[in-house]
Amino acid sequence: MKIAVIGTGYVGLVTGTCLAETGNNVTCVDIVEEKVQKMKEGVMPIYEPGLDILFHRNIEQGRLKFTTNLAEAIKDAVIIFLALPTPPGGDGRADLSFVLGAAKDIAGIIDHYKVIVTKSTVPVGTADKVKAVFKEHTSVEVDVVSNPEFLREGVAVDDFMKPDRVVVGTSSEKAKALMEELYAPYVRSGNPIIFMDERSSELTKYAANSFLATKITFMNEVANLCELVGADVDMVRKGVGSDARIGKRFLFPGIGYGGSCFPKDVQALALSAEEYNYDFKILKSVMDVNQVQKIKIIEKMISYYKGDLKGKKFALWGLAFKPETDDIREAPALYIIDELLKAGAEIVAYDPEAMDNVERLLGDKISFADNPYDALQGADALIIATEWQLFRNPDYELMEQNLKYKVIFDGRNLYDLQKMIDLGYYYNSIGRKIIEA
Ligand code: UDX
Repeated sequence: MKIAVIGTGYVGLVTGTCLAETGNNVTCVDIVEEKVQKMKEGVMPIYEPGLDILFHRNIEQGRLKFTTNLAEAIKDAVIIFLALPTPPGGDGRADLSFVLGAAKDIAGIIDHYKVIVTKSTVPVGTADKVKAVFKEHTSVEVDVVSNPEFLREGVAVDDFMKPDRVVVGTSSEKAKALMEELYAPYVRSGNPIIFMDERSSELTKYAANSFLATKITFMNEVANLCELVGADVDMVRKGVGSDARIGKRFLFPGIGYGGSCFPKDVQALALSAEEYNYDFKILKSVMDVNQVQKIKIIEKMISYYKGDLKGKKFALWGLAFKPETDDIREAPALYIIDELLKAGAEIVAYDPEAMDNVERLLGDKISFADNPYDALQGADALIIATEWQLFRNPDYELMEQNLKYKVIFDGRNLYDLQKMIDLGYYYNSIGRKIIEA
């Protein structure tokens, strides 16, 4: 099938590449000329494990192309994906100007039937708004379909190639048949393509992400309570998660959820509800708790250092909002850095992928190390903000040699408590007892 993908951000690039992998001819469009030129030369603009192999293979085999020319890209395309940003506007609501702007541009070009698919996470009612744009600007028949993505950064290729489900919102039989054909190779294992109306599909995405954010937040609160009552959240998590109705996944407590989706989607759903005069109370609590959770580790540090962090030097392991990505959007590490700098502390950070992004954002406000152990040199303590595999089984000897004091504040519960006792560390993690040196 001939496909056009408008927008080569994270979602667009993964979608375009994975659609090419099953034999479709995909043209990706972006307005940034330099980025398009680089992609044509085979340079991948994002870090996503496994994507580069597919990206190069499909470019070489001529199924994946890049252009800045919208007309050329959509000319023969049967299905056009809109994978454009929907950043929160000043009022916190998703800004639809990119999506609606692209719809208008497409309407001005097309001369025969197209399926227009909104892939970006968009508020309920957006498909209707996109339809209205086409109605106003063209007499050509189009079907507007909502097809939300459920891609997790770091495992997005797997999530696209073997999805738990594909959600398609459309009221058109013609569009339904085309979408079914397109996604058939991805659901061979028997996982469903769930067809529904556009509004239900749009809401599904928000509800799924908000539910997951709620699940994590609930466990973060349980962890906070564990600290007060002397329980161990690891045990509680296992006990709770073994109930199949609850499930083991997304129950890991930490320093709050971050990233480009959860914070934005929870807020957008709460605001959408408000527009319909519905007070979605649980979401407000989730946002409040998460905000506090991100810097709870600072409270612990303030208490340990008796209120004075001034002049202290901290090693920070992990900057990305989660492992296997260089994405720092809403990363808890940034909030921790902010608080530590305000308190007059010095920070030396290490992250396998995200240091360039943080350097662009913060300049020389913090320093960066070439490897995890250099970051520890002369540090008063180590703070762990991202659970990269690399940090899970460190060279403890080198760690001890480099740290000034054997003190760890672990926001991701990476280490076994007994190990910390044996090594003689002060170790403060989430929802578990504090190990005193
Ligand atoms: C998420 C959704 O999972 C995906 O379906 C959606 O389409 C996009 O948003 P992503 O943002 O890539 O994906 O990351 P995810 O792996 O879901 O983690 C989100 C955040 O929750 C991270 O900050 C992570 O550290 C945190 N998290 C996750 C926890 O704190 N505990 C957990 O048990 C799981």
